[in-house]
Amino acid sequence: MNFFTFHDYYNNQVKLAFSSNPFSEQPGHVWVICVFKDQWLLTHHPRRGLEFPGGKVEAGETPQEAAKREVWEETGGEVNTIEYIGQYEVKGKADTVVKNIYFATIEDLIEKADYMETKGPVILENLPRDRKSLSNYSFIMKDEVLTHSLQFLSDNGLLP
Ligand code: GTP
Repeated sequence: MNFFTFHDYYNNQVKLAFSSNPFSEQPGHVWVICVFKDQWLLTHHPRRGLEFPGGKVEAGETPQEAAKREVWEETGGEVNTIEYIGQYEVKGKADTVVKNIYFATIEDLIEKADYMETKGPVILENLPRDRKSLSNYSFIMKDEVLTHSLQFLSDNGLLP
């Protein structure tokens, strides 16, 4: 199988591939690269900082349902289109996490009183290139998962 390997911000080993479920048929986590009106839609996690929304797949949900739910819970974004683009595996100190990556376009952003465990939506015209050195960005935005995903979206003409 053709996959990328690298180390994340915390030096955990990561494998990433843009193919159908390369590491698990039942990933426990999802992560959603969101675009709203030609801008990026992120959430502000109180401890980790700015990141694309995501989280754990709950019992009885498909990963894609979890992806839509997490976008809604963490940003108030209503998904217009969503597609699976790839999957990555992080070998952490304690356990191994497998995460599906989705690309979503958001049709509406609804203001809510509660954004679950986050501070809610953040809209950005551009993603900074030097994310690694920016303390207000989450560690999950600082490894090559995002870089390769943006390249994949660009190569496949998916970016607006
Ligand atoms: P909660 O139960 O929500 O508090 O989660 P947790 O702290 O147990 O973490 P989780 O199960 O989400 O992930 C476990 C570990 O996997 C994290 O501490 C990270 O080291 C790693 N991890 C999870 N998601 C990502 C990711 O998107 N990228 C990278 N590089 N590592 C991740």
